[in-house]
Amino acid sequence: MRKAVSIAGLAAFFSLSLYISAPIATSASSSTNLKNITFNKHVAPILFKNCASCHRPGDLAPMSLLSYKDARPWARSIKEKVATHQMPPWHADPHYGEFANDRRLSRNEIDTIVAWVDQGAKEGEPRDLPPAPPLNEGWHIGKPDAVLTMPEEITFDATGPDEYRYITIPTNFKQDVWVQAAEARPGNRKIVHHIIAFVTMPQPKGTKSFFQPSQEQIKKMQERIIFYEDGRLMRTKPDMPVFDDGCATAEGGSGVFADGTGSDGGGNFLCGQSPGRDVDAWPAGLAKKIPAGANILLQIHYSRSGSVEKDRSSIGLVFSKEPPDKSVNTQPVANFHFKIPPGAENHQASACYTFKNDVHILSLMPHMHVRGKDMSIKAFYPDGRSEVLLEVPNYSFSWQTNYYFKNPVAIPKGTKIMCIAHFDNSTNNKYNPDPTKAIRFGDPTYDEMLIGFVDYTVDAQHLTRPAAAGGSK
Ligand code: HEC
Repeated sequence: MRKAVSIAGLAAFFSLSLYISAPIATSASSSTNLKNITFNKHVAPILFKNCASCHRPGDLAPMSLLSYKDARPWARSIKEKVATHQMPPWHADPHYGEFANDRRLSRNEIDTIVAWVDQGAKEGEPRDLPPAPPLNEGWHIGKPDAVLTMPEEITFDATGPDEYRYITIPTNFKQDVWVQAAEARPGNRKIVHHIIAFVTMPQPKGTKSFFQPSQEQIKKMQERIIFYEDGRLMRTKPDMPVFDDGCATAEGGSGVFADGTGSDGGGNFLCGQSPGRDVDAWPAGLAKKIPAGANILLQIHYSRSGSVEKDRSSIGLVFSKEPPDKSVNTQPVANFHFKIPPGAENHQASACYTFKNDVHILSLMPHMHVRGKDMSIKAFYPDGRSEVLLEVPNYSFSWQTNYYFKNPVAIPKGTKIMCIAHFDNSTNNKYNPDPTKAIRFGDPTYDEMLIGFVDYTVDAQHLTRPAAAGGSK
C-alpha cells in the first residue's frame, strides 16, 4: 500500500516556483557529448532548476545564480561545490527512501557544470538562454492568495542573547480555510534564524502559556512542567530526571507533546521556515485547515547581526482550489529529557511515538542543534518488521530539510516511530560553543533538541465523503 496516494503532484509543486521548461530534457541528453558547453545552452537550465530556489536575489544563499553575469565570478567555486556534492545541499543517505524534493544533481548535470568551467565558463548564444524562473515577488509557493504580516515591526539591539518571540497575527477569516501551501517569509534574513507558524484559537485574556493551550491543558502541564523560561527562551530544568532512551519511557521521551497536552500534539503546526527547508506544500486533496476566527502564532528565533536591526515577517497562504479529502497533521517525536555529558563525542539519545491509527507518512524532518551528528528514523511495525525510513548520517544544523517521500509510507496502527540521534559535545566539533557543559533540551542553539517532525494523514479520514453522501460540509 505504499503507493496508495500519488505524490507526483508534489514534485510538480516544488518545481512550480522553479519553472522547469521543456528544453532542459534535451540539454541533458546532449550533454553526454561535453563539447562546447555554454552557460546559456547547457548550464543555465541546470542552475534554474536546481539552484535558483535559494540562489536568487534576497533569498537564502549569498549570491544569485540567475544570469551569466551573476554566475560567472563564482564559476570555480560552483565547480568545486557541485563536484564534491556540497551543493545543492542534501543530507539523506540515498540507500533509504525516495524523496520528492531530492535535490541531488545527476552525474550528467555535474559533468556538464564541470566541463563548462574547465572550458573557460563561456556565455554562449543569447537565443539558447531559457526563460528565467518566475520570482513571484520572492514567494516560493507561487503568488499567495493571502499574506498575513506581523502587526508591528520589532527592533533589535546590535548585540545580546538569541530570543524566541511569539507573535500573534489574527487571520480575521470569517469561514474555515483550507491551505494547499504555506510559507513563512523572514522580513530580515540577517536576524531571523527560523520561523514556525502554528494555528491557534483566541484564548481568554490573561492566559499565559507559550502555545496558548486550554485551561484544562494548563492544569495538566502544571503538574509536571519540565521547562523554565530563561528570558525569552524555554529550557528543560537542569534537575529534571534524565532519560536518554526516551523510548524506554511511557511518553517516548516528550513530557508535553506526546499525549497532546501543551501543544495540541503539534497538530496545529502550519508551516516552518529555516535554512534549507523547502516550503510546506501538499498534493491536491491534502491540506491544512485554518478554522474561522483562528490566529496564526509565529515562533521566531532571532539572533543578532552586530547592527541594530528591524524585522516584520509574513506568512503567505495558497488556498486549496477544491475541498480536500484529508488534513495534513504534524507529530513531533521528541525527547525533552536527555542529557549530554561534557566532552561526550558520540552520545546517543532517542525518542519514540506510537501511532494510534492507520496513517500515511508524507514527510520527515530531523531537528537537532549544533551538537547534532546524525539521526536515523525507523518504523517498528506491529507485525515485527522494521524499516529505516530516513537516515541522515551527516546532520548539519545549517540545513533544516523536510524530506518529502515520493510515495507516502503506509503506517499501520500500533507502529512505533523511533528517532535515534547522536551528539558530539567534544572539542572535535568545531561548532560546539562549550564542550565543558552538560547539555539539555532547550530553545537556544547552545542547548540541544531531539525532534523528528512527522507529517501524516489519517487513512480513515475522508472529508469529502459526507458531502458526496448528501451531507453538508
Ligand atoms: C536549499 C538552498 C540552496 C540550493 C538549492 C543551492 N544552494 Fe548553493 N548555497 C546555499 C547557501 C545558504 C549557501 C551559503 C552557505 C554555504 O556555503 O553553505 C550556498 C553556497 C554556495 C556556494 C559557495 C558560495 C561561497 O560563498 O563560496 C556555491 C558555489 C553554491 N552555493 C552553488 C550552488 C549551485 C551551483 C547550486 C545548484 C546546483 C546550489 N548552490 C544550490 C543554498 C543553496
